[in-house]
Amino acid sequence: MTRKIIFDCDPGVDDCIALMAALASPEDFDVLGICTVAGNVPLEVCTRNALKLTALAGRDDVPVYAGCPRPMVEQPVAAAHIHGETGLGAARLPEPTHAASTQHAVDFLVETLRHAEPRSITLAPTGPLTNIAVALVKAPDIAESIQDIVLMGGARSEGGNITASAEFNMYADPHAARVVFQSGLPITAIGLDTTLQLRCTPSRHEALESMGNEAGAVAAQMIGHVNAIYGEIYGAEGAALHDPCVVLYLLKPDLFETRRAYIEVETRAGLTRGHTSVDIYIADDETNADWAMGIDAEAAFALLHERISRL
Ligand code: RIB
Ligand code: CA
Repeated sequence: MTRKIIFDCDPGVDDCIALMAALASPEDFDVLGICTVAGNVPLEVCTRNALKLTALAGRDDVPVYAGCPRPMVEQPVAAAHIHGETGLGAARLPEPTHAASTQHAVDFLVETLRHAEPRSITLAPTGPLTNIAVALVKAPDIAESIQDIVLMGGARSEGGNITASAEFNMYADPHAARVVFQSGLPITAIGLDTTLQLRCTPSRHEALESMGNEAGAVAAQMIGHVNAIYGEIYGAEGAALHDPCVVLYLLKPDLFETRRAYIEVETRAGLTRGHTSVDIYIADDETNADWAMGIDAEAAFALLHERISRL
């Protein structure tokens, strides 16, 4: 059964790798659109990268919608120190073969969901949740058309990556994250506790590099950039493939271990801004999300490799 899906992302190296796998899977995903949001790099760069990626994947049939250029309340926080100023590491992608839509991503989300069947569309955010939160605030009625939200974000036992206590997507726009987690919608949250288990080890990096197609070479170049930057942190295990976990979950959920949790996001400034409190010991009727606890990394990478090899 093909799943109607909208991606909302801040490409970004790992967003790009996630989109490669998604766009290579037309029998699994009817991608209604790719929305971009300010995150790893400024909005304009995210949008250009999304357009370049659809060109690389031969999928310029998929429309791209530029969204919010900044968080709901906070000032923009970027991660160019990881993804590079271009957001693509050291990789060079083909020039876009189509332009972004003139419609704002939030308006696209509202219009598309307002005209959709109940519980018919999956939202797959892999960046700050600004667009989705603003859409929910602007048009609460759209919730009834959302089948589920599968997001990359948060951390429980892993602490944080942009600060010691917060994961980047939550930290960048904690107010948006709070709106989403308090929406009552079916949410699966894949945080650092799981994504840090999916590393691009040297053998996996080599498997991408020797894939024999442009997508594999570009993916290897991009993640190699992160490895080089963060080698001393990631060490021999290699950089984490955070955002691809969202697509891999949607393709094969049984590769993941999840459990019900109550997730709340700290919105106050200071040491714990963006911290996700993930209570996995709470009564079932008080939970608001499925929290990913772990992943079969070998099988997950094999699936990621297989999908990218199709491009
Ligand atoms: O913390 C990892 C997340 O922050 C990923 O989505 C990465 O692309 C950055 O947005
Ligand atoms: Ca991202």
